[in-house]
Amino acid sequence: MFPAQRPRRLRRTPAIRRLVAETSLSPSDFVAPLFVAEGLSEPKPILSLPGHFQHTLSSLHDEVKALASAGVSGVILFGVPETKDEFGSAAWDPKGVAQVALRSLRDSFGDDIVLMADLCLDEYTSHGHCGVLRTDGTVDNDATLELYARVAVAQAEAGAAVVAPSGMMDGQVAAIRSALDEASYDETIILAYAAKYASGLYGPFREAVGVEIEGGGDRKAYQQDSRNRREALREARADVEQGADIVMVKPAMTYLDIVSDLRRELDVPLCAYHVSGEYAMVKAADANGWIDGTAVAIEQLTAVRRAGADFVLTYFARELAEELSR
Ligand code: PBG
Repeated sequence: MFPAQRPRRLRRTPAIRRLVAETSLSPSDFVAPLFVAEGLSEPKPILSLPGHFQHTLSSLHDEVKALASAGVSGVILFGVPETKDEFGSAAWDPKGVAQVALRSLRDSFGDDIVLMADLCLDEYTSHGHCGVLRTDGTVDNDATLELYARVAVAQAEAGAAVVAPSGMMDGQVAAIRSALDEASYDETIILAYAAKYASGLYGPFREAVGVEIEGGGDRKAYQQDSRNRREALREARADVEQGADIVMVKPAMTYLDIVSDLRRELDVPLCAYHVSGEYAMVKAADANGWIDGTAVAIEQLTAVRRAGADFVLTYFARELAEELSR
């Protein structure tokens, strides 16, 4: 009989397909990005991220509760402050919006869900860059590290189990690790945005946090160039050497080769960030009836797992967790 190999035998029924599936996708693989804003009296919808809001403290609690009961493993919090300054000082102020929110989530949820804090300055600086500026307008790497160290300690103090530096400054993981250890937060986990590319897919996020880069600038002087693959490994290895506990690739779909490389070369937990633009594209096409958004979202996030990521940060977390546990 020809052919001897008949792969279709293993596709015949849903039960057989489930039996031989090489990859799984479940709510525990998800971390949900959440936005909490200062000075709101009710949650404010983010138009470019349908289904997402700038939260008040109270709506943030409701959302985290729903995520936890849907089996989502973690949340990563972004603060939207009322006032900004040139250094982004609200980022390390114990009364800053992110710290206030972390403290209250910690009180309500304890260790039931993993509380992560995005660690960066761009939401807090008046110029919108991820670090402090020199007089010529460029980002001063080492001066920024000192500020990241303060933010890390403030976030750990407020109850973050994980801090996630996303600014792409050289040496940021080492600076944060030593500041945390000195302040006796040696249990605080560092999830490093290790390979973060300068991407056109962050547009909706910048609307979500109200960040505009002064003078129509960009982040190409510190985020990675999408033409580069080997460089990602160099970045990630450096982060692991500096003490990163978990590394991330961002965005996800356009960098699955990077996920696959890092999975093969490193033995730390690995995740990918399915970013705002990736979510928005699926939602927009779905709203037009051009694709089945849920099916495409599952397909995309499965691809991230198949490429080698242990978990994924995704705006689909709640929706898909509820869908997958149906
Ligand atoms: C920087 C940061 C950004 C995102 C996460 N952290 C924006 C940027 O680098 O411009 C983007 C996430 C997304 O698009 O979903 N603090």
